Amino acid sequence: MSTIDVKVPDIGDFKDVPVIQVQVKPGDTVKAEDPLVTLESDKATIDIPSPRSGTVLEVKVKVGDRVSEGRPLVALEAADEAVSGPRASRPPAPPRFSPVGAARTPEAVPVPVVAPPPASAPRPPHLSPRVPSPPALTPRGSVPGVADAPPFAARLDTGPTRTAHASPSVRRLARELGVDLSLVTPSGPKGRLLKEDVERFVREAVTQRAAPVRGGGLEVLPWPDIDFAKYGPIEVVERSRVQRSSAANLARNWVMIPHVTQFEEADVTELEALRTRLNEAKQGPKVTLLAFVMKAAAAALRRFPTFNASLRGEDLVVKRFFHLGFAADTPHGLVVPVVRDVDQKGVHALAQELAELAQKAREGKLTPVELSGGTFSISSLGGLGGTAFTPIINAPEVAILGVSKAVTRPVWDGRQFAPRLMLPLSLSYDHRVIDGAAAARFTSHLRELLEDLRRVLL
Ligand code: COA
Repeated sequence: MSTIDVKVPDIGDFKDVPVIQVQVKPGDTVKAEDPLVTLESDKATIDIPSPRSGTVLEVKVKVGDRVSEGRPLVALEAADEAVSGPRASRPPAPPRFSPVGAARTPEAVPVPVVAPPPASAPRPPHLSPRVPSPPALTPRGSVPGVADAPPFAARLDTGPTRTAHASPSVRRLARELGVDLSLVTPSGPKGRLLKEDVERFVREAVTQRAAPVRGGGLEVLPWPDIDFAKYGPIEVVERSRVQRSSAANLARNWVMIPHVTQFEEADVTELEALRTRLNEAKQGPKVTLLAFVMKAAAAALRRFPTFNASLRGEDLVVKRFFHLGFAADTPHGLVVPVVRDVDQKGVHALAQELAELAQKAREGKLTPVELSGGTFSISSLGGLGGTAFTPIINAPEVAILGVSKAVTRPVWDGRQFAPRLMLPLSLSYDHRVIDGAAAARFTSHLRELLEDLRRVLL
């Protein structure tokens, strides 16, 4: 027995690469080549494999740590093996790279903009091939690339199987995507399978899943596949993991939830005066309108519990806690940190927490806990502009509040026009759960709360 410190090997130009997954814990037994820790650079995920069989003594990094070549990751008690030379100095197995975007386990992925679908969320329909020859798919999850989805398996109902000739990297890609290489048509020299062949296979498979199904499903055409370079110069920009993850989640939510958006306008003249006074007093953190909106929204949710709920199959799960997510615009993409127990916090505490979470979001330092557990979301574009927008619901929540820029304009008070600061609100709601009348009552109540925040106490 000997102790080996498994370190970050030479990983090329990558430095300060984040640890996105720790795959072992002290006491685990591992075999040589088993992945210990996964790193992710902008371009690739890198599995650091165990150089030897043995038992994990200590894990020296955690998810979120940034590491470079030479940093110890895991202390391993190596099992006896017939090796020549001092074991501890045996070079580590080479790291395994895979493209960013390959399907991974949920904890390996920056938490998506929205939570994963509930266990009871409807699965995509099983699609039959339009003609007998193409492969029939057996979907196990959602579309590849969706953060919370395991890779799907594809199988051929009929037809011959072939022996696939492919390089290790192509085999690895196929493994990660759950593709049986014997089903993929090769286009390389001497019948070799190329990476593009695997990608094309997956693309076709996905297209078929989105293909028309009689009597249900989405009757959509395949996505247009256009060679834009034919028309002018182009640049292909790789999107961040967060962007791809949120795109997939937003698409699911948009497609699966019947959205309706109710618009409202609150006179926040008095509220703004209060906010200005609070900030001038400098007795706490800077308060933005969002902290007040959050406080008012929690009070409205308490009054209208259906908006603080989730569908689970036929039932509605009503939550008796008020954890409010807010959309934060970051350089990596859109994330939704969650402020817990908003109903129990004062405006100063909320402002402080909002500022801290927004800062952590921009630095990409939010923890999974800070990104989960939300019961209702707020998307505020008020600092940026616009008169109204229709936010997409953050499933499995049933409503989301959009806040646009407050502007001063003349408002008729019954006798004359007076300058008032008006805040535009847009509430998107799941029409399966919430009726239009309930939405109008909710937004009216929210408006009343914002116009006189003392009502929050009632
Ligand atoms: N009307 C007028 N002004 C507003 C406002 C509103 N509704 N909301 C904020 N402002 C003002 C603020 O008071 C501040 O002005 P000041 O510095 O003069 O006081 C300025 O706009 C900037 O505010 P901001 O830094 O955005 O703070 P915030 O608490 O309002 O918002 C975030 C914090 C994290 C929500 C915000 O920075 C953000 O990321 N917004 C984008 C959310 C998004 O992308 N949503 C779309 C999802 S699809």
